[in-house]
Amino acid sequence: MPNNTEVFSGKNLIRTFGHGKKMFRAIDDISLDIVDQEIVSLVGGSGCGKSVLAKIMLGLIKPSSGTFLYKGQPITNQRLHWREVQPVFQDPFSCFNQFFTIRSQLKSSFGIMKEKPSKKEIEERVDQALMAVNIVPSEIDGKYPFELSGGQMQRMLLARIFILRPTVLIADEPTSMVDACVRANILDYLMKLKKELKMTIVFITHDIGLAYYVSDRIFIMHKGKIVEHGAPDDVALRPKNEHTIKLLDDIPDIHKDWISR
Ligand SMILES: Nc1ncnc2c1ncn2[C@@H]1O[C@H](COP(=O)(O)OP(=O)(O)O)[C@@H](O)[C@H]1O
Ligand SMILES: [Mg+2]
Repeated sequence: MPNNTEVFSGKNLIRTFGHGKKMFRAIDDISLDIVDQEIVSLVGGSGCGKSVLAKIMLGLIKPSSGTFLYKGQPITNQRLHWREVQPVFQDPFSCFNQFFTIRSQLKSSFGIMKEKPSKKEIEERVDQALMAVNIVPSEIDGKYPFELSGGQMQRMLLARIFILRPTVLIADEPTSMVDACVRANILDYLMKLKKELKMTIVFITHDIGLAYYVSDRIFIMHKGKIVEHGAPDDVALRPKNEHTIKLLDDIPDIHKDWISR
């Protein structure tokens, strides 16, 4: 259950790109707090600034102005930050090197850790992580990323999360490349990991139906701003903002019954 310890705290965040006349605000005065162990969704159409905000959370880019704190401190050391805050991206293939076996790459995930376990423990923990995402370890032994399906690769990403056990997971449209069946599985795995690892999750999607299904709180974004936020029932069943209503109209049919208005 979420408690009230702040994980992320952003105040008046602005992030601009470009110069002179071409300068625009990808993030335009956003303030938000995310607390320990909650699942927050950032929902909005393409180009509204979701991934830019995700990159700020990951410490990959800095805001142009405003303050952004992780557990009360600014993000200064990326490597240390990534021990605790980890991404799952859209395209699992881009996160694995095609020239190394999956298993060797899962093992190398331990490299980022402060205290590296023994070789034997690494093997055991890789097996555990694979089983947590319903993969029989022998199924992937000796295999390279290109030998696996998109759905299997997504599960490899989740296995990696299981190994790294981050405090915070930033999932940027993790299900947009896969079909509906795999998508439901991935969401279930995410929920399972969250429960086991007690993670805070920032879930990014353009599908407010998915957000409704998984979140404790939903933030609706439009053109770099948060235009509405609150509990899923309030945002999805009693939307106030026109952009929220538009997103509700765009929900794929298969998710419509999650929200019964
Ligand atoms: N590195 C960058 N340089 C210039 N513009 C960028 C950069 N990253 C993102 N943008 C722009 O910022 C806006 C928000 O992008 P993004 O956060 O990726 O949108 P989305 O909500 O689809 O994830 C878009 O107009 C995008 O083109
Ligand atoms: Mg994006």
